Amino acid sequence: MKKISLLESVIKGIQISILSVFVVVLGCSSESTPRQVETTKIDTIESIDSQSVETVISVTEETLQLYQRYCAQCHGVKGHGDGINALYLVVPPRDHTKSDYLETRTDQQLFNAIKFGGLAVGRAPCMPAWEHTFEDKMIHSLVNYIRELCNCKTL
Ligand code: HEC
Repeated sequence: MKKISLLESVIKGIQISILSVFVVVLGCSSESTPRQVETTKIDTIESIDSQSVETVISVTEETLQLYQRYCAQCHGVKGHGDGINALYLVVPPRDHTKSDYLETRTDQQLFNAIKFGGLAVGRAPCMPAWEHTFEDKMIHSLVNYIRELCNCKTL
C-alpha cells in the first residue's frame, strides 16, 4: 500500500512539474500572438451570431413600406413584375410571385441580387444594387418578403 501511494505521489509530482513547464512556456511566448488569436475568435463568433439572427429576421410593416417605395415601380405593387417602369426596361423585372423560378434560387442569391444588383448574380444590370440604401438586416427581410410573395422556398 505504502509503495503504491509513494508511486502515486511521484507521478503527481511529475505531472505538476510538466504543468509548470507548460505555464512557463506559455508565459514566455510573445504576448501579441495569443491576443490576436483571441480577437479573431471573438469576431468570428459575433459575426456567426449576427448572421443567424439576420437570416431569421421577420417581415415587418417597414419591409412592406420599403418594398412599395423602392421596388414596386419595377416589380409591381403586388410583386407581379408589372410596375409602372417595367415597360421601359429591356429586361422585364422579375415576377416575385412566380415560384417556379424563385424555387431555383437560394436566399443568398436573392440577397446578393438585392444588395449588389442584377449583374452580381449573372442577371440584368437594370436590377439596381441597394447596398448603400439598406442595411443587411433589411435586405434579409426583403428576401423573406419575396419568399412570402412566391409562397416558396429553395428546392
Ligand atoms: C429599376 C427597376 C427595378 C427596381 C427599382 C428593382 N428591381 Fe429588382 N429586378 C429588376 C429587373 C429588371 C430584374 C430582372 C433581372 C433579370 O432577370 O436579369 C430584377 C430582379 C430582381 C430579383 C431576382 C434576381 C434574380 O435572381 O433574377 C430580385 C430578388 C429583386 N429584383 C429584388 C428587388 C427588390 C427587393 C427591390 C427593391 C429594393 C428591387 N428589386 C428593385 C428591376 C428592378
